[in-house]
Amino acid sequence: MVSPRILSIKYILYNKMSLPSQSNPYAQVPQGVSFTAFGREYTPQDILAYGGEGQVYRQGSDGFVVKIQNPPVGRVASNHIILKAEAVLGQALGHPRIVKVKGIEEIAIGESPALAVQFPYHGENLHNQFKMGEISLQQAMTYLAQAACVLPYLATAGVTHRDLKKPNIFIDENGAVVGDFGLALIGQGSSGQSSSLLGIIRTYDPTVEEFFKRRALLDVATGSIGNASPEQIHNPRLVGPASDVYSMATIVYGLLTKTDFNRAFARDAGRLPNQTAYNESERVSEALAFYNNPMMNRLVRELPVVSAQVYGLDQAVAKQIISPAIEPLQSALVKEPSRRCLPDNLYNVIMGLSERLQQVPDMYCSQLTSARRGLTSMEASPTPRNYSPISSPVPSRLVVDVGMYLRMDLQK
Ligand SMILES: Nc1ncnc2c1ncn2[C@@H]1O[C@H](COP(=O)(O)OP(=O)(O)O)[C@@H](O)[C@H]1O
Ligand SMILES: [Mg+2]
Repeated sequence: MVSPRILSIKYILYNKMSLPSQSNPYAQVPQGVSFTAFGREYTPQDILAYGGEGQVYRQGSDGFVVKIQNPPVGRVASNHIILKAEAVLGQALGHPRIVKVKGIEEIAIGESPALAVQFPYHGENLHNQFKMGEISLQQAMTYLAQAACVLPYLATAGVTHRDLKKPNIFIDENGAVVGDFGLALIGQGSSGQSSSLLGIIRTYDPTVEEFFKRRALLDVATGSIGNASPEQIHNPRLVGPASDVYSMATIVYGLLTKTDFNRAFARDAGRLPNQTAYNESERVSEALAFYNNPMMNRLVRELPVVSAQVYGLDQAVAKQIISPAIEPLQSALVKEPSRRCLPDNLYNVIMGLSERLQQVPDMYCSQLTSARRGLTSMEASPTPRNYSPISSPVPSRLVVDVGMYLRMDLQK
């Protein structure tokens, strides 16, 4: 049974998605605050990135980053619980390619209580490294294969990340790690048993266990528009580990064509002009409502041709490298989550692509910035980046800030 309360939350969110830029509620969020956490003082100068619901800080070459949630401003729900859930889940998970949580601390931001979470610093994210031309397509695909090895682990544990995309994959000297479990969902493990992870989480914090149980019942759109599976936007009750399979496949498509699959799909469906529109999220979301497998199949079939064009590669060579991946990618991107290939299959497909790509000279996303190659990513991009609705006119991430509602319930 779907309660009216849940339906109304969904209604609010869909409305929020289609707000015109003038009334973007995120515009009011302060772009940086000072606070003390883990024995150090952080100022706006230390901001590494602005996130969807908070900010990530790093001091100089500190080996750690600190994530905080935004202080309460205007209509933006500010809650410990979403960030706390991310942190506690991070403590409960144990995989060498998943970001570990170093510490959790209750702090104060001005008058407001807040939560700070400390993670090891893992370097620049895959999105920036690839876009800036610091790593080649070959290197990016190898990193992606490393990241994809968390898929089978998460599926067994009954965890769906729900926001797999290049900015959430970090690269350091040991390779790729997957981060940002802020939207993660805990459902059934692949054995069909209710995830034993919830029991572990209960031992850390029973409120967080309760939060995850309630989050699993919410019928709301979540994810990032370029990479979310159709069910994440239009049929949230079907979301599960197969949704991560879809998102991972959109990243593969994105590396090979320099366009995330969902955007390519929306463009093909005639719903997204070539020039990125300010209401892109809405248009892509609309296209996903009409998602059809034949159109997806054709787009994936055309991958070698498009990829050859985009990278100036010989078509026959592109075909040789990419063709073996076409069918498995089609089955990772099929509309019905229950028909998608298993996480292990996709992992193997990405490994195969990465290996075959080694046969050709390194190819880069950006030729323009190739002169900057060799600089460290921080030198090449000294200012903090926005991945969030804060500075973009329309959220590229369908932020579902349900913490407010959940917390109200939990406090009863
Ligand atoms: N442990 C980390 N190491 C390196 N960079 C990080 C780390 N955590 C976050 N970042 C940077 O901050 C950005 C936002 O952090 P993220 O955890 O993805 O939060 P959000 O939920 O706000 O997207 C990331 O894309 C990445 O660039
Ligand atoms: Mg993120």
